[in-house]
Amino acid sequence: MALYLGVMSGTSLDGIDIALIDQEDTHTRLLGTHYLPMPADLRTDLLALCSPGPDELVRAALAEQHWVRLAAQGIDDLLRQQRIQPTQIRAIGSHGQTVRHHPAQGVTIQIGNAALLAECTGISVVSDFRRRDLAAGGQGAPLVPAFHQALFADDNSQRAILNIGGFSNLTLIEPGKQVYGFDCGPGNVLLDAWIQHQQGLEFDRGGDWAASGQVQPILLKTLLGDPFFLTQGPKSTGRELFNMRWLSQQLAKLPAMMPEDVQATLLELTATSIFDALQAAQDRTDELLVCGGGAHNRTLMKRLAELLPATRVASTEAYGISPDWIEAMAFAWLAHCCLEGIPANRPSVTGARGPRILGAIYPA
Ligand SMILES: Nc1ncnc2c1ncn2[C@@H]1O[C@H](COP(=O)(O)OP(=O)(O)O)[C@@H](O)[C@H]1O
Ligand SMILES: [Mg+2]
Repeated sequence: MALYLGVMSGTSLDGIDIALIDQEDTHTRLLGTHYLPMPADLRTDLLALCSPGPDELVRAALAEQHWVRLAAQGIDDLLRQQRIQPTQIRAIGSHGQTVRHHPAQGVTIQIGNAALLAECTGISVVSDFRRRDLAAGGQGAPLVPAFHQALFADDNSQRAILNIGGFSNLTLIEPGKQVYGFDCGPGNVLLDAWIQHQQGLEFDRGGDWAASGQVQPILLKTLLGDPFFLTQGPKSTGRELFNMRWLSQQLAKLPAMMPEDVQATLLELTATSIFDALQAAQDRTDELLVCGGGAHNRTLMKRLAELLPATRVASTEAYGISPDWIEAMAFAWLAHCCLEGIPANRPSVTGARGPRILGAIYPA
C-alpha cells in the first residue's frame, strides 16, 4: 500500500477537495474523500488576489495561511474518519490556489504555503507542480492529461476526457498515440459569475436557469470571436481573460438582453467551444467522459450529447469514478510521481521542451 492525499482547490473557488488514494504500482484506487466549502471571507480574499491590487504579497501570505489551516483541518477529519494515522500517508500532493496564470510571460502563481501544511499535518507535502513545466517552456497546464490517460486509456476506443471546472480542459486518448490535451475555454466560470451578478446565487443548479432562456446567436458569435477560441493548443487560460469584466465588455457592444437569455448563451458558449475544440483535435470520438462540477449540469450534458450524436457522452461515474474527485486524485498521483522520480508533464500537451519531474518536496 502507498497512501497519498490530493488537495485541489480550483478556479471556481467553490471549495477544497481532498482525496485519499492507494497507489499500487500503476493502479490508483480511491479510498476516501472530503469536501470543504470555501468560507465566504476566504473566497472574497482569494478572488480579490486574482486581479492586481495593493499589498498583494502580504495579503496572499495571509490568505494562504487561512487556506492551509482549513485544508489541514479537512485532512485531519478525513484521516480520523478513515482510521488512518498521518504517518501512514506517504505524501500530500497540494495544488494550492491559482491566483494568476500568464504562461506567455512564464508566470503562474499558486499559493498554499506547503511548509505550513507539512507543519500542521505532520505529513510530507509536494506542491508547486506547474512551475517546472513553465521553466521548460511549457504552459504549466493542464497537468491532468497524464493521469486521465492512466485511468481511462482503452485499447478499443478513441476517448476524450472533459473536465468542466471553472475552465474546461480536454484530454484526447487514442490507442497507440501520445496523449494530447489543452484548455478549451470557460467551463462554469461565466455561468457562475452571471447568476451571482443577477441573482446572488453561487451557481445555476442543473443549468435550469440557462434552460429557461433562449440562446442569442449574435451574443454567441461575439463571445466566440475572442482570439482564444481561434488558437489551437498548447494553450491554457484563467480568470485573467474570462471574467465578469470580459463578459460586461462583450454585452456592452450589443442591445440589452433578458438575463436568462444571457445565461442560455453562456451555456451554449461552454458547449460550443468544447465541441469545436474536440472536432478540431480528434477525427472521431467514440466516448466523451465528463468530470468536474459541470458533469452535474444536466442542461450542459444534454447539449453536449446533442452536438455529438455519434459519441457516447457520459459522466465518469458511468466508468466507476465519481466526477468530483478526479482532479484531487490527480494531485495525489502527481505527488507519487514526484517522489518516484517519474516525469508527469506531457510535452505534447503543455508544449514544454521535454518531460520533467514536477513538484517541490517539503518533508514532514
Ligand atoms: N448540480 C450542479 N449543477 C450545475 N452546476 C454545478 C453543479 N454542481 C457543481 N456545479 C458547477 O461546478 C462548479 C465547481 O466545479 P469544480 O469541478 O469544483 O471546479 P473547480 O475545479 O474550478 O473548482 C461550480 O462552481 C458549479 O458551477
Ligand atoms: Mg472545485
